[in-house]
Amino acid sequence: MFDPFPFYGFLEIKDVSYRPPGTKINLLSQVNLSIPEKSFGLIFGRSGSGKTTLLQLLAGLSKPTSGSIYVQRYSDDGEKMKSPEPLQPERVGIVFQFPERYFVADTVLDEVTFGWPRQKGGLQLRELLASRLQKAITSVGLTGMSLDKDPHSLSGGYKRRLALAIQLVQTPNLLILDEPLAGLDWKARADVAKLLKNLKKELTLLVVSHDLKELASLVDQSWRMEMGGVLKREPLPI
Ligand SMILES: Nc1ncnc2c1ncn2[C@@H]1O[C@H](COP(=O)(O)OP(=O)(O)O)[C@@H](O)[C@H]1O
Ligand SMILES: [Mg+2]
Repeated sequence: MFDPFPFYGFLEIKDVSYRPPGTKINLLSQVNLSIPEKSFGLIFGRSGSGKTTLLQLLAGLSKPTSGSIYVQRYSDDGEKMKSPEPLQPERVGIVFQFPERYFVADTVLDEVTFGWPRQKGGLQLRELLASRLQKAITSVGLTGMSLDKDPHSLSGGYKRRLALAIQLVQTPNLLILDEPLAGLDWKARADVAKLLKNLKKELTLLVVSHDLKELASLVDQSWRMEMGGVLKREPLPI
């Protein structure tokens, strides 16, 4: 299968500005960012500065007014290889802030498989989906839990694990998380942080968070979003 993140792939955001249709104010102003695959990038900054807006563009939910978002491959010696490839939305997973508010199903299994093809499909397809499901459930530590449980009955931390599993089933190359620790108690925060550390081995993570201390040990690169949607590379202020 086509892999948009080969070994020396970088996700690159180049001069991206965003102004919602029909408005005159830029929510993002000439944003630039470059992050190698399988690393952890963290964006912090004040509420209302444009962090969520940037994540929505990365997930393909809205289009930049100008600038581009793409994957660039580099060779061993740092030369650009081929032309940049557009980031494919289907290779990007996004977990919104408070994802548990959007749970729709009555069981954990239905929640994870919501959106799967309804028609029976061939045995091969069903086996593929089943093995992805198994892998996703294992990697978020939901093994041993009954898949018949009501998602709303889970603890805060387990709801977040479930939200991650829902995305991981789609085997994304880039996983975007908006405030993954918000609203969790200290134990659940530590659990989710540990989980993210493991995920970094397999995919690229771009995270918006105020919880700098808990995530500091995972962070490879960080940026501050300033009011008006101006992104600056900056070490964590801790
Ligand atoms: N569709 C929209 N139209 C106009 N303004 C918006 C829209 N969406 C968000 N905003 C505004 O854009 C700014 C940035 O919002 P947001 O990206 O949610 O910030 P953050 O995630 O950093 O708190 C805020 O002032 C917000 O009110
Ligand atoms: Mg936000």
